[in-house]
Amino acid sequence: MMQSWSQRALMVTGKGGVGKTSLSAALARALAEQGHRVLVAEVGSDADEPSPLIRALGGKRPRDSGVRPVLPNLEAVRLMPYAGQQAFLRDTLRVKLLVDAALRLAAIRRFLSAAPAFNELGVLYQLFQLMRERRPDGHPRFERVIVDTPATGHALAIAQLPDIVLRLIPGGPIGTVTREGLAILRDPAQTASIVVTLPEALPITESIELIEGFRQNKTPVVEVWVNRMPLNPFEGRPEAERAALALAATQAPPFWGAQTLQRLARAQDALGALRAQTSLPIRVFPEKLLEDPALSAALSKDVAKSDDDRAVPPSKTN
Ligand SMILES: Nc1ncnc2c1ncn2[C@@H]1O[C@H](COP(=O)(O)OP(=O)(O)OP(=O)(O)O)[C@@H](O)[C@H]1O
Ligand SMILES: [Mg+2]
Repeated sequence: MMQSWSQRALMVTGKGGVGKTSLSAALARALAEQGHRVLVAEVGSDADEPSPLIRALGGKRPRDSGVRPVLPNLEAVRLMPYAGQQAFLRDTLRVKLLVDAALRLAAIRRFLSAAPAFNELGVLYQLFQLMRERRPDGHPRFERVIVDTPATGHALAIAQLPDIVLRLIPGGPIGTVTREGLAILRDPAQTASIVVTLPEALPITESIELIEGFRQNKTPVVEVWVNRMPLNPFEGRPEAERAALALAATQAPPFWGAQTLQRLARAQDALGALRAQTSLPIRVFPEKLLEDPALSAALSKDVAKSDDDRAVPPSKTN
């Protein structure tokens, strides 16, 4: 068992630069290697922009907004608000020509993007559609869906979306279609979030606030992932030796390696603070001296480690 959750859709969230994309790619790879049919999604506004997710996975840049295979069992997609809004309006209004014409009008587009959560709705609608797709044998096209969410604010907006949308659209065909999709996201048995953070004081504080935000939105967070834990150069050395070194790092005049030890001590303090403030399961991923796509490949091995292995502090795999 590599995980303590069973939800089909996982939102990987956290502040900018903490490793959401790297760990989304790693998680998607790990699940695909275990034989699940996996979709990994990123969110973007422009099909022509480079894709950090595809880069992390080592694939070629997608040409369009479609789903593209990247590795065995693993396909990737870029969800874009505009494409999703178009699909949403087409499906709900069923007058394709009118919708296309309307969306071409800048004034209407401006109006729609200013509407609360309309961009998130576009993104999510695309996601629902993909999650609803079935193979000829009746099984879902994608068994697991990983979403690399762009930023904390966005993730919370998604969590709040159901209420906002249902308030905007009380009934009728749009309400029905939306409700079906949003039910997936609101269902703790089907959708959950993973909060990614770094072992530093401020990111830890921010992740605690994010977890609280999710709690208020009744969006389940299944695990907190602490990424880029510094390597412990004395891993596996006798305890007495490590204690002596730790003491030396605080008392002796600066010596070679003192910074490394201090950084490690700060990271361990930050991790301790996190443990004290949440009862969620915490997983720690080491700092790797690797770059894409070797980075996500190495991290996917860590993601796939069993619960028992998790007790062992990470290291050595670099
Ligand atoms: N465990 C790790 N070890 C070493 N480098 C890492 C690790 N995780 C991520 N990185 C590097 O840190 C940088 C940021 O990672 P990533 O792009 O995954 O973060 P992000 O949260 O998706 O950022 P953004 O908010 O900008 O989308 C990248 O250069 C990535 O290669
Ligand atoms: Mg990213």
